[in-house]
Amino acid sequence: MTNSTVTDDTAAERIDPDETAAADDATAADGTASRTEPTTAIDQSATADTTTTGESEERTDPAWRTYSFPGDPVLSAESLDVWYGDDHALRDISIEIPERSVTALIGPSGCGKSTFLRCLNRMNDRIKSARIEGTVSFDGENVYADGTNLVELRKRVGMVFQHPNPFPKSIRANVAYGPRKHGDIERGLVPKLLGRDEREKEDELVERCLRDAALWDEVKDRLDDNALGLSGGQQQRLCIARCLATDPEVILMDEPASALDPIATAKIEDLIEELAEEYTVVVVTHNMQQAARVSDQTAVFLTGGELVEYGDTDQIFENPESQRVEDYVTGKFG
Ligand SMILES: Nc1ncnc2c1ncn2[C@@H]1O[C@H](COP(=O)(O)OP(=O)(O)OP(=O)(O)O)[C@@H](O)[C@H]1O
Ligand SMILES: [Mg+2]
Repeated sequence: MTNSTVTDDTAAERIDPDETAAADDATAADGTASRTEPTTAIDQSATADTTTTGESEERTDPAWRTYSFPGDPVLSAESLDVWYGDDHALRDISIEIPERSVTALIGPSGCGKSTFLRCLNRMNDRIKSARIEGTVSFDGENVYADGTNLVELRKRVGMVFQHPNPFPKSIRANVAYGPRKHGDIERGLVPKLLGRDEREKEDELVERCLRDAALWDEVKDRLDDNALGLSGGQQQRLCIARCLATDPEVILMDEPASALDPIATAKIEDLIEELAEEYTVVVVTHNMQQAARVSDQTAVFLTGGELVEYGDTDQIFENPESQRVEDYVTGKFG
């Protein structure tokens, strides 16, 4: 598995293959998600007013981050702070994410979008220098509480990365990987009671997930071919199918289309919108049009690891409260 080398030594030390869900393996195969190299050094003395990317100075108002929606949040963070060593990457983040919708996370490079996303299913635990304070709740439970089952958490809160990272196995084996690893296919009680064999159940699972990932028609005649022979856009949809196979409730996506051409990107965007009918999707993107097109609500992180504004996507793009957010979404900096 040549592309699965973990580029982050500290993370590599911490990866326990038996403790992980499919999403974990995906991280191990993803250079971006597991890197330790800081991309943007933040001045240790930075304050909320510090500007390193051309942002104007501005005091923020907590009301700008308050977003009301019907129903209970499926995921929420409260007073979340993250440090990498002395680098304060996220500052006092509080946010509630509604279910069955698309939440976009936007902001300039280094503002903490990926860090925040990784906190939601504790993928940041892998980074030795990372320290977290505050709470993240999923389905009403604090995921940072002692005794949280990380395998279960990462099955329920799955993840898709910037660079498609299928395993060098067949298309079928990629989709069935998570359930096979966790015994859901081998030991499933229902198929045993029904007297069906594993292969039949696996075929159903593979087809369902590939259909849900809008890939089935393109690969149905070559399920046993190596996944690395697929195009980049197809590989990314396969990674989404692999994520769906562990039956998640939330799908976290970190710039899922940034390595793809416009046609493949459009397919991923359509897929995100479809997935949100059944799943809660949280997507990081640098592409403003993409955020505006696919998301229901948008959270804007700015330099210093601050959540500056969160609200209905149309409002954020058309009538933001914050001058800095307006400058960012209109391309004046970042
Ligand atoms: N594994 C790590 N080890 C040390 N510092 C890190 C690590 N990952 C991120 N950082 C630092 O934390 C801060 C936030 O980084 P993060 O990757 O979350 O930003 P981002 O908003 O996702 O940026 P980009 O848009 O470039 O992906 C940056 O200062 C970065 O250098
Ligand atoms: Mg990032």
